[in-house]
Amino acid sequence: MALFVWTDELSVGNAFIDGDHQKLVAMVNSFHDAMEQGRGRDVIGKVLSNLVIYTKEHFGREEAQMQRIKYPKYLAHKLEHDKLIREVMALQSGFLSGNAMLTVTVSRFLRDWLLIHIKQTDQLLAAALR
Ligand SMILES: [Fe+2]
Repeated sequence: MALFVWTDELSVGNAFIDGDHQKLVAMVNSFHDAMEQGRGRDVIGKVLSNLVIYTKEHFGREEAQMQRIKYPKYLAHKLEHDKLIREVMALQSGFLSGNAMLTVTVSRFLRDWLLIHIKQTDQLLAAALR
């Protein structure tokens, strides 16, 4: 069962940002499903690496839009992205080194990580892009 369901409440009213976020939600769900189904380390590792790559690409796209409109909150938003990337990469390196067990707690962490960023920081950006 999906951990994370996209609802209109998550929409920031910007087509490109919403599209990226829907993809991220789907990826967090894939991660959750892979663990729930007890998939192998190779499968889980791949899902996690896709999530890291897509998160970086998505943040890069948002940052390009912020620079385009000379967004006044650019620095704070960028710092938040950098922190989120560090967190997801720390999860990944813990997993790869075998030091950290990935559990349901991790997928809840990823869901909340994304939810809070979307509902707070990205809502402000979408409003500025309008
Ligand atoms: Fe963002």
